[in-house]
Amino acid sequence: MRILSGIQPSGKLHIGNYFGMMKPAIELQEQGEAYLFIANYHALTSVSDGAALREMTTDVALDFLACGIDPEKTAFYRQSDVPEVHELAWLLSCLCPMGLLERCHSYKDKTAKGIAATHGLFAYPVLMAADILAVNSNVVPVGRDQKQHVEVTRDLAIKFNNQYGEVFTIPEPSIRESVAVVPGVDGQKMSKSYDNTIEIFAEGKPLKKRVMSIVTDSKELDDPKDPDTCNVFALYKLLSTEDEQAALAERYRAGGMGYGHAKQELLEKLNEHFAPMREKRRELEANMDYVEDVLRAGAEKASILARETLNKARQAVGLV
Ligand code: ADP
Ligand code: TRP
Repeated sequence: MRILSGIQPSGKLHIGNYFGMMKPAIELQEQGEAYLFIANYHALTSVSDGAALREMTTDVALDFLACGIDPEKTAFYRQSDVPEVHELAWLLSCLCPMGLLERCHSYKDKTAKGIAATHGLFAYPVLMAADILAVNSNVVPVGRDQKQHVEVTRDLAIKFNNQYGEVFTIPEPSIRESVAVVPGVDGQKMSKSYDNTIEIFAEGKPLKKRVMSIVTDSKELDDPKDPDTCNVFALYKLLSTEDEQAALAERYRAGGMGYGHAKQELLEKLNEHFAPMREKRRELEANMDYVEDVLRAGAEKASILARETLNKARQAVGLV
């Protein structure tokens, strides 16, 4: 089984990214041949400052390695180090119906939020399809918001194969429904565009401030509370065992516990879970040559597959 996923370096990674995409991708690396890349070409649809893009790309590399990507098991690379995906994207573009892209929610959502409506943003799912099809991935672990893009990829691959013969493997999205949407501090989907995130590598006072700012209802200390509608509890669930969840739920329902206590419990869980990763990240920061070597080696491995696929596709469409 071949597994591929990617993430845009367009801001600090948060625990929505972690539980929705990073953790599943890290766990899947045990189950097959894994490919993971930093989608810096895609980030150009929203980042227009070169220095910032470079810095965020480095940050994402450090974050993933610190969180548990093992370069022995996963080919980890920068998308721009495998430029073959662009030629493949063009071949796919030429059979991609406009309607397929016009239906994509992500384009509509992003333009509604003020991101410039460029050709790059519109064609984004075609480049994403090329990323996936270049390595003939079977499984694509993503959060729910990316599911439609994987469906576009499937449609394009099927169309290409029907038209030109079998070139591409048809991929499946892999979505963990239990963590499909991690809520932010305001209760909406956690997203860097909503300024409601808890960053994976925040710590100390800024982390505490963020956790304490999680929106709750206005019940008094003594009132019984409903864990199932509480944002603090939803986040706590991601980090605790079933027994711990049952115990905290009991305290909610009994009354006498304020939301401040629940937030403190959540903070402790966050610190416990991410402390080893913070430590590892500091070590990696002091060893950037190693990080660069990992990315280069990953790109070499992915390029071998991408060239092979591209050659087949060029042959099929009649370019050679
Ligand atoms: P953001 O919404 O912060 O811009 P991205 O769109 O860059 O995040 O998402 C990167 C990956 O993380 C995708 O696979 C996406 O589905 C996943 N993801 C992002 N936010 C969440 C969330 N709140 N819950 C679950 N998964 C998420
Ligand atoms: N669009 C994805 C996101 O915003 C990132 C991405 C680009 C991707 N290419 C991909 C994810 C290929 C999975 C597979 O999160």
